[in-house]
Amino acid sequence: MDVVNDIIAWKRDGHELDAARMDAFVAGVVDGSIPAYQASALLMAMVLRGLSDAETVALARAMVASGKTLDLSALRRPVLDKHSSGGVGDKVTLVLAPLVAACGAVFGKMSGRGLGHTGGTLDKLESIPGFRVRLPQGEFLRQLERIGVAVVSQSDRLVPADRILYALRDVTATVEEDGLIAASIMSKKVASGTSAVVLDVKVGRGAFVKDLEHARDLARRCRLIGEAFSRPVSCVYTAMDAPLGRAVGNRLEVEEAWDVLTGGGPDDVREVALTIAAMLLALSDLGVDEGEGRRRAEAALADGRAAQHFERWCYVQGGTWKPGEFHRLAGREVRVPEAGFVAAVDAFAVGRAAQVSGAGRRTVDDAVDPAAGVVLAAVVGQEVAAGDLLATVYARDAGRRERAAAVLAPAFTLADEAPVVGPVVLGRE
Ligand code: URA
Repeated sequence: MDVVNDIIAWKRDGHELDAARMDAFVAGVVDGSIPAYQASALLMAMVLRGLSDAETVALARAMVASGKTLDLSALRRPVLDKHSSGGVGDKVTLVLAPLVAACGAVFGKMSGRGLGHTGGTLDKLESIPGFRVRLPQGEFLRQLERIGVAVVSQSDRLVPADRILYALRDVTATVEEDGLIAASIMSKKVASGTSAVVLDVKVGRGAFVKDLEHARDLARRCRLIGEAFSRPVSCVYTAMDAPLGRAVGNRLEVEEAWDVLTGGGPDDVREVALTIAAMLLALSDLGVDEGEGRRRAEAALADGRAAQHFERWCYVQGGTWKPGEFHRLAGREVRVPEAGFVAAVDAFAVGRAAQVSGAGRRTVDDAVDPAAGVVLAAVVGQEVAAGDLLATVYARDAGRRERAAAVLAPAFTLADEAPVVGPVVLGRE
């Protein structure tokens, strides 16, 4: 009987995998000695039986050990990061990164690309002409030292186990297990040298976490892993029934982030960015609590320092940022069929429409169109008359515009009465 078969049977029968078994599994996946069919069988056993807290931490440890780890201690300052569990229109990092740096803390992030109906920060940054997301490690460190902010693509050498396991999970219906998700998220944070993280768990129809109870479990597991590696993790739960803000699509979202940085923009984006900025500043070495952190972040938005820091960040990372010089693609409007109140805007459908317009990927190898996407004209709670504009789809050709508009139109639910509009920040701990 081979050892891997024993490990699969052990988990299948409901026993806990100890660190030795978890290490053997992860090492075998990475060195190729465990074939995909055995790895997939074990992943399915993990999903069906669930991972205990001890297994979650053991998996994270094995994943961190599967590759290189970045040592940012030469900076002699904590490097702060935030992770979002994935939302539609989530451009918070674009606001938060320069905002936190403008307040005197250090924000460093290794980020991923978008897949499916949610966008990725790297694709958004690359919609700025010239912006370089692939920086050698030394340059990443020097940039953090110089301007306190850098967002780059994750090095292939960090957590190779996650790339292999995530690709398998994606095609074997084994993504949805909180221990697997927490180990995947946190192993990358630990390996990339992050000192402290705020985890933004998106909750609602447009997110893979549908309710607060589930969000709390995921957050708890991420905190456990953080504790095991002495990396503090704070969590915030934010609503993702409707898209965040009005713009969904790479460059469209950068424009909206700029609006927030210059004191305008949608209230929900501003609120999430300020909430997380305050939490991060409280985790920094500035010696402030969240209340003082919030005051400092509000001041940096109000007096233009955050916007200036964004410009500097783009410049240093090679990007040419010229606000307002962006020419939108041809648009296809979606209008109100009958008068009423906008009761819901389905984030998942809007994300899909943006993806169809060319802003997102179906498979990892797809290219994204930096200028494509959706801009909402009406948001939840708004009263609308027949014929009013609900949203506009921007795409490079008429076929995409029509297909995306067909996905977008049913995203809007109209009602006779004004809906109760809930807060965007649902809780934190
Ligand atoms: N995001 C990750 O990085 N990993 C998961 O497993 C799920 C979401």
